Amino acid sequence: MASPTHFLVVVVLLLLGVATTAFSLSPNFYDKVCPQALPAIRKVVEADGSLFTSVVMVHSFWIPHLLSKPRKNARGNLNPVRGFEVVDQIKAEVDRVCGRPVVSCADILAVAARDSVVALGGPTWKVRLGRRDSTRARLDLANTELPSPSLDLPGLLNNFRKQGLNRRDLVALSGAHTLGVSRCSIFRNRIYNATNIDPAFAKQRRATCPRTGGNTNLAPFDSTPAHFDTAYF
Ligand code: HEM
Ligand SMILES: *[C@@H]1O[C@H](CO)[C@@H](O)[C@H](O)[C@H]1NC(C)=O
Repeated sequence: MASPTHFLVVVVLLLLGVATTAFSLSPNFYDKVCPQALPAIRKVVEADGSLFTSVVMVHSFWIPHLLSKPRKNARGNLNPVRGFEVVDQIKAEVDRVCGRPVVSCADILAVAARDSVVALGGPTWKVRLGRRDSTRARLDLANTELPSPSLDLPGLLNNFRKQGLNRRDLVALSGAHTLGVSRCSIFRNRIYNATNIDPAFAKQRRATCPRTGGNTNLAPFDSTPAHFDTAYF
């Protein structure tokens, strides 16, 4: 006979089961509801084929960091809005093939970033899906929480720790700078004043980043800014 205690235990287990199902992420999350979603994302990313799109996708994990900066790219002037247009385009295509908006924007970005990395010669991985879109994103807060480019190692570690990210996460995520470029104004002080920098590298960067002026001149973070590789490290 079921005692009240048994009943309570069963209810608690059921609730735990529901909670686990509701909050666990899985690469197969959309297999039943919309199996066409992931191939559709890959198709748009591959068809677009621009480095800029990939940079935006990879950057999207760090969205405010992207929004807070004027976007230009080593291949010339590029419209900052363009990357977001591609995001919108992917979203529209996914909603179209699925028949209704079932895939979250967070999941679309995570998959598009992975597909972009693969398109630029990087590794692949299974994306765990089922992320919900935030209903309380705060651009102002996100901007103030972002690590400044002038932070030192303890400062960066502290900044990441506040977001629940550890030392290993800091090193791995910084590897995203295998793609893209930075403005002269941001690294000028370092290439003229720092002692803990490879002198040959500093000299090379000084060629396009003068002591005064040229603030918006761009330089890549590594020797292969269009390839997702380990050159940055
Ligand atoms: C560790 C803390 C980080 C700092 C201090 C930092 C700093 C910077 C700076 C200063 C730039 C150049 C911006 C400009 O000149 O306008 C940049 C660019 C970039 N960052 Fe970060 N970043 C960090 C983490 C990340 C993470 C976690 C990602 C992605 C996972 C990322 C992806 C990128 C990309 C792709 C670019 C190139 C953008 C472009 O070419 O337009 N960064 N970052
Ligand atoms: C080098 O550091 C000094 C002292 O902090 C500063 O005044 C100067 O502007 C820096 N030089 C460059 C090129 O950033």
